[in-house]
Amino acid sequence: MLKSFGFHLAAAAAACAMAAPSFAQTGEVAAGAAEYKIACYQCHGEAGKGDGPMAALLTVKPADLTQLAKKNDGKFPFLQVFQTIDGRAVIKAHGEGPMPIWGERYMAQSGAAGAEPYRTWTAEPFVRARILELTYYLQSIQE
Ligand code: HEC
Repeated sequence: MLKSFGFHLAAAAAACAMAAPSFAQTGEVAAGAAEYKIACYQCHGEAGKGDGPMAALLTVKPADLTQLAKKNDGKFPFLQVFQTIDGRAVIKAHGEGPMPIWGERYMAQSGAAGAEPYRTWTAEPFVRARILELTYYLQSIQE
């Protein structure tokens, strides 16, 4: 039992070492995958192809999230994806788009929205962690 646990650890470490240097840890990808199934698949589809059950109802077609690296010369645009999901900086620049502003939603769910600055400040890392997990997950599904 212990021995096989050790083996799994070694295998996991080897898998991490083989992955591209910027690639996320498995735990982060799993957390992002779970969140994706709750918050994103309705529009972007189970496999991220932009063909979720709600896609037909939207005037702007949800993006194919498996092609983000391909569309960016093979490099996953990590920061840009993070900021697109967050949406709080983007909305200030371009106004409201077709996608929910996840940064605002996650802040509201933290219970800190509209609260005094200190509580908002302590909630911010939790909001960012959720967005970060999603970004790692999207990085893991690039084709
Ligand atoms: C209500 C439908 C809807 C939901 C839910 C939704 N999206 Fe989107 N998303 C869209 C649409 C529509 C676009 C295309 C926006 C545009 O072109 O302006 C988009 C675009 C994006 C992009 C930009 C892709 C690119 O080409 O740069 C990313 C990244 C993204 N979504 C991630 C997510 C994630 C992660 C979630 C879940 C937390 C999510 N979306 C939930 C509708 C949705």
